[in-house]
Amino acid sequence: MKVAVFGLGYVGTVTAAGLAHSGHTVVGVDVDDAKVAEINAGRSPVVEPGIGELIAGAALSGRLRATTSAAEALERADLSLLCVGTPSGSLGSTDLSYIERVAGDIRQAMTHVAPPTSGFHAVVVRSTVPPGTVDHVVTPVFAENAPGWDVGTAMCPEFLREGVSVKDFFAPPFVVVGTADERARAAVAELFSFLDLPTRHVATTTAESLKYACNAFHATKVSFANELSRVFRGFGVDAREVMEIFCEDTKLNIAPTYLRPGFAYGGSCLPKDLRALQHMARSTGVDAPLLAGTALTNELIIRDVVERVIATGARRVALLGLSFKADTDDLRESPNVELAERLLGKGFEVRIYDPIINPDRLVGANLRHVQSRLPHLGRLLACTPQEALAGSQVVLVASAADGVADALRDAAPQHVIDLSGRLGDEVERMAGYSGVGW
Ligand SMILES: NC(=O)c1ccc[n+]([C@@H]2O[C@H](COP(=O)([O-])OP(=O)(O)OC[C@H]3O[C@@H](n4cnc5c(N)ncnc54)[C@H](O)[C@@H]3O)[C@@H](O)[C@H]2O)c1
Repeated sequence: MKVAVFGLGYVGTVTAAGLAHSGHTVVGVDVDDAKVAEINAGRSPVVEPGIGELIAGAALSGRLRATTSAAEALERADLSLLCVGTPSGSLGSTDLSYIERVAGDIRQAMTHVAPPTSGFHAVVVRSTVPPGTVDHVVTPVFAENAPGWDVGTAMCPEFLREGVSVKDFFAPPFVVVGTADERARAAVAELFSFLDLPTRHVATTTAESLKYACNAFHATKVSFANELSRVFRGFGVDAREVMEIFCEDTKLNIAPTYLRPGFAYGGSCLPKDLRALQHMARSTGVDAPLLAGTALTNELIIRDVVERVIATGARRVALLGLSFKADTDDLRESPNVELAERLLGKGFEVRIYDPIINPDRLVGANLRHVQSRLPHLGRLLACTPQEALAGSQVVLVASAADGVADALRDAAPQHVIDLSGRLGDEVERMAGYSGVGW
């Protein structure tokens, strides 16, 4: 393919060199003459292991050159990759001025140069940009096509890390393309076909969000390990050993477990042990804002659902699922019990169905917990989902047990707030359906 790469910083330089090495014809564009001159001299404008050899080889093969002219790069190009910076603006917003400027440069250049033979050109954002940027900032620039050009836009986030960027470029975790344009999707798939990885096609906003999720997770992991080490240090514990063993658990710790958006955590262990850790931190004079923030986020999710129920104006609420997770009757610190308690306190009529909870069989701490939070549980409990749903305008669904989805479809309540995310497409398409966080 003939590719124009805009922005020859860390991402653009490695991308331009890597694509040229993989057989594409690449023209890099930068407003900085010095960077352009370096590439044209077969040298790298950035320092990264392996990039010198890659650029020298690509320049020698004639497949990589650079220019300050967008028009020169666009001549018969199949695809533009936008790799310009997206620095922090005031109050942490993303400064999209370089993206806007480069999109404008591309559109302007199209009026002066010949299109590719197919006429189709994909404008693909590689920079990290907030959800909505491609649709609301980039696509409108190409609303009116230049004569002979037909443009489709897409988002294809970059996952390389500085210091190992060349290695990462050739071995990314995934290739993700977000677009509503099938031709743009196909163009990105062809661009990266040398990687031998399937191209994951998603909504544009999903592709834009993914990079933020990755970076936020990386940052949170670093802070998590560091915060724990500051807490444990006060107890003479070396957190390096703790975390080394911690990372060996690829079933629960370094794993997809607990990374599925849904409702609040609860149960007999997580809240209790988080509180204990916070107490340990306080007792040794250590601030642990990440742990405190975790508990706060959990509380805010519960509060948000209560507010949403209030906003419906309904009076009768069905809660399907009471224990803190499926297949257990443990009600200790279940966020669903908390939800029921708050709604009852606000005067809502609440009917509860749980496939496992039988109030007559509750014993020990479990029974004491329910007696203190929901003393009238027996009266609130329905034997079937249908019974709980009868007459309820709002349904909070924490359980995806057999029969729940069918009962929801039959009852068709005005509002379904899905706390589980496991109800299936048919329920999700129902009028009045909304997810707790989606
Ligand atoms: N650096 C990383 O490790 C990394 C990894 C993945 C994603 N990203 C994202 O990729 C984007 C680029 O990051 P970077 O570190 O390569 O940035 P950078 O600042 O190193 O490079 C950006 C380049 O764009 C050029 N530029 C600005 N306006 C231009 C224009 N109108 N036309 C042509 N060139 C122009 C600048 O001169 C500069 O050379 C950012 O959104 C960043 O968040 C960075």
